[in-house]
Amino acid sequence: RFLKWTWRLTWLSAVGGLGYMAYGIYQNRTPADQEDPDPSKKTLVVLGTGWGSVSLLKKLDTENYNVIVISPRNYFLFTPLLPSCTTGTIEHRSIMEPIRNFLRHKKAAVKYYEAEATKIDYEKKVVYINDDSEIKGATSATEVPFDMLVVGVGAENATFGIPGVREHGCFLKEVADAQRIRKRIMDCCETATFKDQSPEEIKRLLHMVVVGGGPTGVEFAGELQDFFENDLRKWIPEISDNFHVTLVEALPNVLPSFSKNLIDYTEQTFKEETISIRTKTMVKNVTDQYIEAEFTDASGQKQLEKIPYGLLVWATGNALRPVVKDLMSQIPAQKDSRRGLAVNEYLVVKGTENIWAVGDCAVANYAPTAQVAAQEGAFLARLFNQMAKTEEIENKLASLSEDQAKAPSKEVRDEAFAQIKDLQKRLRRVQKMGPFEYSHQGSLAYIGGEKAVADISWLTGNLATGGQLTYFFWKSAYLSMCFSTRNRILVIMDWTKTQIFGRDVSRE
Ligand code: FAD
Ligand code: NAI
Repeated sequence: RFLKWTWRLTWLSAVGGLGYMAYGIYQNRTPADQEDPDPSKKTLVVLGTGWGSVSLLKKLDTENYNVIVISPRNYFLFTPLLPSCTTGTIEHRSIMEPIRNFLRHKKAAVKYYEAEATKIDYEKKVVYINDDSEIKGATSATEVPFDMLVVGVGAENATFGIPGVREHGCFLKEVADAQRIRKRIMDCCETATFKDQSPEEIKRLLHMVVVGGGPTGVEFAGELQDFFENDLRKWIPEISDNFHVTLVEALPNVLPSFSKNLIDYTEQTFKEETISIRTKTMVKNVTDQYIEAEFTDASGQKQLEKIPYGLLVWATGNALRPVVKDLMSQIPAQKDSRRGLAVNEYLVVKGTENIWAVGDCAVANYAPTAQVAAQEGAFLARLFNQMAKTEEIENKLASLSEDQAKAPSKEVRDEAFAQIKDLQKRLRRVQKMGPFEYSHQGSLAYIGGEKAVADISWLTGNLATGGQLTYFFWKSAYLSMCFSTRNRILVIMDWTKTQIFGRDVSRE
């Protein structure tokens, strides 16, 4: 009897799951007709299509504003799975969601311009934009006026002005970066097996150096080692003895934002996976064939070492985008801010009234993560929805007060008075929105060898765990956070494909 019920429940959940997926697909394919944008309403311009901006757009009632989105990237990118694209564990299109597909489902239409904001003139309330894509029309630069502006342009890669990084290193922030790395890994392997290649050159070409022991560097190093162990070693056995991954970090340990036991666990796992970690080693210069790094030797002396490499991945965190730097230079209240746009507790850019900032370009005392950006975006959507409702009620109140003053009889006056009381109560309720408060759900990172680490916020405190079970948790957490049903299905298919056939080692 127990088995029978278990069997029935399994069937029921499978059918339920399939039904949910089918509904998701149906909804995606058949959006309802949209209201036209209303130019008489306030123009809300949103810069960027990343975590902060898209989370805002997801929850925003677009019928309340004339919404315009500007971004050089016409898709949302699910960054947590980007390191998996560098080795082909996941194909990049599986973690991209076209912004038009998403905007098409909003109640009122939203305008989208594929362009980069080059300057924000906050006094004139204008954004200058530039079409930086390959194909340009007769007009490729223009301006967009705004009543309200949300800056969600993210951040650039930090290089700290170290010579040679931009010319010779690969970053890992965008899809193009992941594609470039994937191509280079294969190029290094094929070039290393070229006829008559010298042993030193083979060693150099197969030395994969990752600079920056934050989560980006660690996840990439883990993915790369997996690629070597599971696939490259089998397809190109000649490289087995020389392929090596090294992670270079200036601080005394990797993953500084994780719990101490998870740092130790990661370092131990890397040792077992034969990934070398060079901590307390600061890269000072980069050439096309080696990096120069400073470290302190056993006697306490600073030494400079040349480390040859075939592939260099540079993951040393975030820096300000020029458009953000320029905006900050226009606002006296921003003069002491170094890491981004200083915002108040309602995410208003300090020194302005009608500009808000979310995500990596804003400084609100939280780490620059997707989790923070998404919560900030959702907060702004609630704030803007509430502002629109407040305005609507205030307009109604004004017209009711006028009606009451002109009322021909006491009954009409009393009725208007009752309505006014009612609306005032509603207004108080609507206006009751507190400032932004971040709720930390935890941090996750993949460390290779089907292991992950997780610092999870629990009711009673923090749960720090690592290993294979955590890896399954990591997988299911990111799967559930994927943007759409389509993304979820594609990611599952990619994981399955990798398990069955291995990763694709073609160079393109
Ligand atoms: P982004 O998501 O970077 O979006 C910025 C948007 O602005 C983009 O659409 C861009 O095209 C657009 N833009 C750029 N310049 C302009 C301009 N001049 N005008 C208009 N638009 C512009 N965080 C986590 O919490 N968990 C993770 O597991 C995690 N994994 C990560 C893995 C990798 C490899 C990386 C690189 C980051 C990861 N992060 C993770 C961090 C997370 O991706 C960022 O914190 C998050 O993307 C910030 O969101 P954002 O909206 O501020 O910026
Ligand atoms: P990061 O800022 O977290 O780490 C960069 C590391 O590079 C630092 O540890 C720094 O000491 C080191 N470094 C800087 N200059 C160096 C030099 N010259 N030589 C050697 N080492 C040097 O950057 P990362 O990893 O790119 O992450 C950026 C943000 O995105 C962080 O807030 C991070 O939490 C988030 N993120 C989160 C992920 C997750 O939760 N799984 C994954 C990836 C990113």
